[in-house]
Amino acid sequence: TSTYVPYKVKDIALADWGRKEIRLAEAEMPGLMALRAEFGPSKPLAGARIAGCLHMTIQTAVLIETLVELGADVTWSSCNIFSTQDHAAAAIAAAGIPVYAWKGMTEEEFNWCIEQTLFFGEDRQPLNMILDDGGDLTNMVFDVYPELISGIRGLSEETTTGVHRLYERMKNGTLHLPAINVNDSVTKSKFDNKYGCRESLVDAIRRATDLMLAGKVAVVAGYGDVGKGSAESLRGAGCRVLVTEIDPICALQAAMDGYEVVPMDEAVTRAQIFVTATGNVRIIKDRHFRAMKDKAVVCNIGHFDNEIDMAWLNQNYGHSKSQIKPQVDMYEIDGKEIIVLAEGRLVNLGCAMGHPSFVMSCSFSNQTLAQLELWQNADKYENKVYVLPKKLDEKVAALHLAHVGAKLEPLEQEQADYIGVQVEGPFKSEMYRY
Ligand code: NAI
Repeated sequence: TSTYVPYKVKDIALADWGRKEIRLAEAEMPGLMALRAEFGPSKPLAGARIAGCLHMTIQTAVLIETLVELGADVTWSSCNIFSTQDHAAAAIAAAGIPVYAWKGMTEEEFNWCIEQTLFFGEDRQPLNMILDDGGDLTNMVFDVYPELISGIRGLSEETTTGVHRLYERMKNGTLHLPAINVNDSVTKSKFDNKYGCRESLVDAIRRATDLMLAGKVAVVAGYGDVGKGSAESLRGAGCRVLVTEIDPICALQAAMDGYEVVPMDEAVTRAQIFVTATGNVRIIKDRHFRAMKDKAVVCNIGHFDNEIDMAWLNQNYGHSKSQIKPQVDMYEIDGKEIIVLAEGRLVNLGCAMGHPSFVMSCSFSNQTLAQLELWQNADKYENKVYVLPKKLDEKVAALHLAHVGAKLEPLEQEQADYIGVQVEGPFKSEMYRY
């Protein structure tokens, strides 16, 4: 166990600014505030030592302080080297919560930061809950600190890519804890991944490049939840959008939503803006880079930086790289200049401020409910991956209706009987896909 470092952030003097923005975010996060009102007084998370590894943004600060208000001790690191908002981290540190995160850290510092979150306080008490985004904290505990596993009740995972790793572990017998897949709550993936990216993708490209988007041809690789939001974001800005897909169902969806569906080899000769949203590897690689137009902009909104073959790019053309500003680099490839955003890491958090608070309130309400459930009822769960019950998913949605002025139709008993549901829900079968 390492010696106690109370926190490490870029500049603690940013705390006042961070606090002001946290207050604004709270007003846009009705789900989290309702959970504070419901569970704050009884402190159901008392005794929980939650280590969190999730983009240290203003919205995440509201999540952290919700967990604290429910009684937990919390330590935090960011799950990406570029995604920390330094004023948010400073405000959390100033509130006395151990946070280890700053924008633009190295990979080595990244691992150091996660390591700091494993032990709490001067007396170095180990974590007993994991809250993860992408699986880096989970992997560190399972692979490097296996002696800590027996003291941990469970883990909750935020994103598609992290959930994918958990199901793999479950299959090969290396999932050592009960896990709640937060991503596949409907009120997470069908909102954050989709409507979140619809707002934050174009925001990131604009902040990074100041390009006129209207009239440009853009390509989105992958038409899952993130791809759907990303394509709509670009179309809303006036781009003509191409989509690439491997799955005929998603390809057909894209076509029927009005996008042209083409292979990447065709898209590269036509597009000026490239966005990868697959959660898969090497979507844009050597031959694609070589075929691109001059001044093409290349970015990734998926979780890891291997969607764009940055290893190949840096190995072969790293010598030509010149920084235009932080997180915006130009490479010269065979006489053409190619602009790469956020070094291939998720662009909306690297070049902009991530998703808006309101949609993150949906995601983080699910996170809070998952932590509550695992902390209180871990013995009911095996070392498997679970999703929250539909009733809670519906509850999260319900907590966000008033804020957007939406009023529900009351379901009458006769109607409930007719469609075979309870008046108070759940309103759909598990099969329903939304
Ligand atoms: P998803 O599974 O819904 O969609 C991925 C899509 O990519 C699928 O339709 C799949 O068929 C397609 N695909 C796979 N290989 C492909 C290839 N070679 N070419 C073209 N298409 C291909 O996953 P989701 O939820 O959309 O997430 C995608 C990634 O984004 C994940 O890494 C996830 O963790 C991340 N994510 C990022 C967020 C952000 O704010 N930046 C928010 C939420 C998720």
